[in-house]
Amino acid sequence: MATSRMFQILILSILFFSSMILAASPTYNIQSYGAKSGGKSDCSKAFLSAWGAACATTAPATIYVPPGRYLMRNVYFNGNLCKNNAITIRIDGTLVAPSDYNVIGSSGSWLKFERVTGVSIYGGTLDAQGANLWACKNSGKGCPKGSTSLAFYNSNNIRINGLVSLNSQMFHILVDGCRNANLVNVRVSAPGNSPNTDGIHVQQSSGITIMNSHVSTGDDCVSIGPGSSNLWIENLACGPGHGISIGSLGWDTNEAGVQNVTVKTATFSGTENGVRVKTWARPSNGFVRDVLFQHLVMVNVQNPVIIDQNYCPNHQNCPHQGSGVKISNVKYEDIHGTSATQVAVKFDCSKTRPCSGIRLDEVNLTFRDKPATASCSNADGTADGIVKPSSCL
Ligand SMILES: *[C@@H]1O[C@H](CO)[C@@H](O)[C@H](O)[C@H]1NC(C)=O
Ligand SMILES: *[C@@H]1O[C@H](CO)[C@@H](O)[C@H](O)[C@H]1NC(C)=O
Repeated sequence: MATSRMFQILILSILFFSSMILAASPTYNIQSYGAKSGGKSDCSKAFLSAWGAACATTAPATIYVPPGRYLMRNVYFNGNLCKNNAITIRIDGTLVAPSDYNVIGSSGSWLKFERVTGVSIYGGTLDAQGANLWACKNSGKGCPKGSTSLAFYNSNNIRINGLVSLNSQMFHILVDGCRNANLVNVRVSAPGNSPNTDGIHVQQSSGITIMNSHVSTGDDCVSIGPGSSNLWIENLACGPGHGISIGSLGWDTNEAGVQNVTVKTATFSGTENGVRVKTWARPSNGFVRDVLFQHLVMVNVQNPVIIDQNYCPNHQNCPHQGSGVKISNVKYEDIHGTSATQVAVKFDCSKTRPCSGIRLDEVNLTFRDKPATASCSNADGTADGIVKPSSCL
C-alpha cells in the first residue's frame, strides 16, 4: 500500500514536471507547415520548414509529427544553419520513402543530419521501402547504390529513443564523425536476405551508446568502422543478420584505430557471426585494442567468435596478403550457446602483426550437442575458467 502510494506520487510528479517542460518548449507541428498524412503528398518541405523555425530560436524546441504516414524525399538537416542546441523531434507517425527507389537511391542518405548539436528523436517509424531496390541489386541490373535511412555526420549530443527503422535501402542508421550519441530502444527490421542493410554503423565517433535494442537485418546488426572509440553496446538482440562486426578495417594504409569497445549482454540468433573482428589482408597502421565481449548467448550461430584478418574477397586488392592492423587486448567473458558449424572459435590473425592479449574466460560453445572446436593462427593470449572448445591460444 505504502509503496503503491509512493509510486502514485512519483508518477504524478513526473507528469507534472514533464508537462511543465513541454509547456515551456515551443512545438512546431509539421502539419502546421503543410504536411499531410496519407503517404501521398510530399512532406519534405513542411518538415524542413518546421526544422527551420526550430533552428531560428535558441530555446529548447520540439518538432512534432502526429500519427499518420508522411511521404518524405531526401531531407538534409543542416546544423550550420541552426542556432538551436536542444531540438526534440517527437514522432508519433511513420515517415515513408517514395516507392520509386530512384528518388532517394543515389543521394547517400534519406534523412541526413550534419553538424547538429543536441538533437533528440523520440519514437517514430522510418519506412524506407527498400525491397524493390534489393530486388534490382539481386538481379544484377544497374541500380543506384541506395541510401542510408538515418545518418548523423559530425554531430554531438544525439539521442534516439524508441525509433523503428524498417527496410532501409542500405544502412539503417549511420553515426559518422560524432561525439556522444545515445541510441536506446531502437528496433531495426529488414529480411535476412536483404543486401547491405546493416543495422547501425558507427565510425570516426566516440562516446556512442547502443542499448536495449533489437536488430534483424540482412547484414551486420552493428558494424564498427575505423576511428571508433568508447563505444558501449548493452542489451542487444541480433538476428537474423551478420552479428556485431568490428570492421572491415585496414583497407587504407593510414587508418584510425578502434579502441575501448564493450559489448555486454547480447543474444545472437541464427546469425552468420556472433562477434567478429575483420580486417583486410592489406598493409595498414590501424589497430583494435581494449575490447570486451561479455555475457553473450549464441543460438545456432555460424561463427560465434571470430577474428578474420585475411579478408580479401575474390583474392583481389591484397597483393601481399597480411593485415597491418594490430589486434590486442580483446577479452571474451561468459560466452555460451550453440554454434551452427564445427569451428566455434576462430582466431585467424595476421602473420605480419599477430594478435596479442586475447583472453577467454568462461566460454562454453557446443556444436550439435558435442564440443565444438577452436582454431588459431598467429594468436597469442590466455584462457581462464571453463573454456570449451579448449583454447588453442
Ligand atoms: C571506455 O568507454 C566508456 C564508455 O563506453 C567510458 O565510460 C570509459 O571511461 C572509457 N575508458 C577509457 C579508459 O577511456
Ligand atoms: C556447456 O553447455 C552445454 C550445453 O548447454 C551443457 O550441457 C554443459 O554442461 C556446459 N558445460 C559446462 C562445463 O558448463
